[in-house]
Amino acid sequence: MQYRKIGQTDLNVSVISLGTMTFGEQNTEHEAHTLIDYAVAQGVNLLDTAESYPVPPRPETQGQTERFIGTWLKKTGKRNEVFIATKIAGPSRQLGHSSHIRQGESRHNRHNIELALNDSLQRLQVDHVDLYQLHWPDRTTNHFGKLGYTHTEHEDFIPIAETLLALDSLVKAGKIRHIGVSNETPWGVTQFINIAEKLGLSRIVSIQNPYNLLNRTFEIGNAEVSIRENVGLLAYSPLAFGHLSGKYLNGAQPEGARVTRWERFARYKGENAERATELYVELAHKHGLNPAQLALAYVNSRRFVSSNIIGATHLEQLKVNIGSVDIELSDEVLAGIEHIHQLYPNPSP
Ligand SMILES: NC(=O)c1ccc[n+]([C@@H]2O[C@H](COP(=O)([O-])OP(=O)(O)OC[C@H]3O[C@@H](n4cnc5c(N)ncnc54)[C@H](OP(=O)(O)O)[C@@H]3O)[C@@H](O)[C@H]2O)c1
Repeated sequence: MQYRKIGQTDLNVSVISLGTMTFGEQNTEHEAHTLIDYAVAQGVNLLDTAESYPVPPRPETQGQTERFIGTWLKKTGKRNEVFIATKIAGPSRQLGHSSHIRQGESRHNRHNIELALNDSLQRLQVDHVDLYQLHWPDRTTNHFGKLGYTHTEHEDFIPIAETLLALDSLVKAGKIRHIGVSNETPWGVTQFINIAEKLGLSRIVSIQNPYNLLNRTFEIGNAEVSIRENVGLLAYSPLAFGHLSGKYLNGAQPEGARVTRWERFARYKGENAERATELYVELAHKHGLNPAQLALAYVNSRRFVSSNIIGATHLEQLKVNIGSVDIELSDEVLAGIEHIHQLYPNPSP
């Protein structure tokens, strides 16, 4: 395993971290524990979760993912071997999907942040988390599949300074080690940094956004901010929900797989995404590579990536995905990727 420092911290994070959002829906507690055991044995030291997981979010299962991580920590006593990253949901107005969390009260004000964090700590059975992230912004902006920005006039959102003040007091109380954002824009990241500096508050250390061969929009504005300001990317959905393995090509519907099971996971479907995927899979085969490993090795190799948050519902997938750390893409493969990207730039933003 390789390790990288995240932001301006002393956290040496594994290049591959384990995403857990299938735990409690696609994966049972036993399966979840087996996956974490394997990942940790391979040197993975960051587990990423959220108060709203598992997905798809449902009132009946909300919090199960954190609970399963909590029972794993308790059972193994390995709290000091892993960094725990979790998230507070954002307002439900844009998504509808978190309206069951605190009866729809998930704005980023002090009251909700304190309630959310304390509930997460309880489910995780820990006294602090290593990284606490705002799952999506309190204001309306372009994320979750929205490419362009549309301005909402006179929107009432929680000022970033208020959110930072609340987070900072929880850092001072020892319940949070570091803070981060997710599904953020360059404007948002720079606001968080500048306001924190002006008020002497905790600085964000990471940004968790989607980044994969079908969606490299992070490179447009966020990559520069990420490198210059040392706010590392925790790349999510690196396989575009599994599409980049090639398993959905030609209309295939693998049994039990995410995109087969739930219509809502349509973000990486579409004609151009399918054509681009065909070409990436062909490129991998031409060079004797596993298509999933090609896609993951590309993410691992980007300078602005602190860690690549992989997901896996089966041990076999996990082995392949962690194995991507040992793959270095040749200049020829990188040129091939660039060529496909020029033909089909960001088909699934
Ligand atoms: N901040 C956010 O808003 C946000 C959003 C999404 C995700 N995340 C985080 O990022 C993590 C990873 O996201 P993701 O699950 O969307 O990542 P992904 O890599 O795009 O998709 C992972 C899924 O693809 C399939 N898969 C994985 N490896 C495979 C392989 N080698 N061959 C074939 N199929 C394979 C599995 O699903 P099936 O077995 O069902 O096919 C697996 O659950 C999440 O767990 C979560 O922690 C954060």
